[in-house]
Amino acid sequence: MILVAQVSDTHFDLGARNAERVERVMSFLAGLRRRPDAILVTGDITDSGKAEQYTQARAALRTDIPVYAIPGNHDDRAHFRTTLLGEPASDTPINHAHRVGELTVALLDSSVPGEAGGLLTDETYDWLHGVLATAPADGPVLLALHHPPQHLFSPVVDVIALAESGRLAALVANDERIVGVLTGHAHSAVATTFAGRPLRVAPSTASVLGGEWELELPDRVMDYAPDPAIALHVIDENRGLTTHFRSVPMGGWIGVQPN
Ligand SMILES: [Fe+2]
Ligand SMILES: [Fe+2]
Repeated sequence: MILVAQVSDTHFDLGARNAERVERVMSFLAGLRRRPDAILVTGDITDSGKAEQYTQARAALRTDIPVYAIPGNHDDRAHFRTTLLGEPASDTPINHAHRVGELTVALLDSSVPGEAGGLLTDETYDWLHGVLATAPADGPVLLALHHPPQHLFSPVVDVIALAESGRLAALVANDERIVGVLTGHAHSAVATTFAGRPLRVAPSTASVLGGEWELELPDRVMDYAPDPAIALHVIDENRGLTTHFRSVPMGGWIGVQPN
């Protein structure tokens, strides 16, 4: 089996709180008996795209497990590239693909500079078609992007979700190798389907946004009380996708004594 951890919406803002929460999550992952084969960070790495926020992110996300990150609507592509990835500045979409054992992970940049909502550009679709054309013919594929392509009954996020999601749905439905689609953005652990495949929305390490049955707009929107949370995805030999959503208590394993 392949184990992929997903960390999302870290919102590094130069304050200590959000950074400490990510540091706690990263030490939890690094300390697992069976460590993840890769860690995906699905956008809103920073709160406002400043270079120094990426410096903070780079330090907190440092581990010897491979970490693959994509931008969200709160990010800045140029600073993301130069400071987090160590690449030349550019405003073009940050798309990248990785092989994790048998699995191909394609990370798509759904951010639109200056906009809260998401869109995948023609350039990104061309790139994705190329990735799928060269991926193993019978190997599983995971897609990851920041913006959910599906209605989530989340009043804050549904109005800034992925636009023109039918184009992505057609691509997913036509490729049997795609075992699921992973997103962030909703600050809530959500499981649903998209184009007949599992859609898994990772919670945020920073805060929680409730569903439409919970929010009292505009005053009570974001809940900062819960512990940071992550998703752990298992891809099995039958192309099944099993997801555990896991909160990581800031206090750690209180009361558990080492043998
Ligand atoms: Fe976010
Ligand atoms: Fe977002």
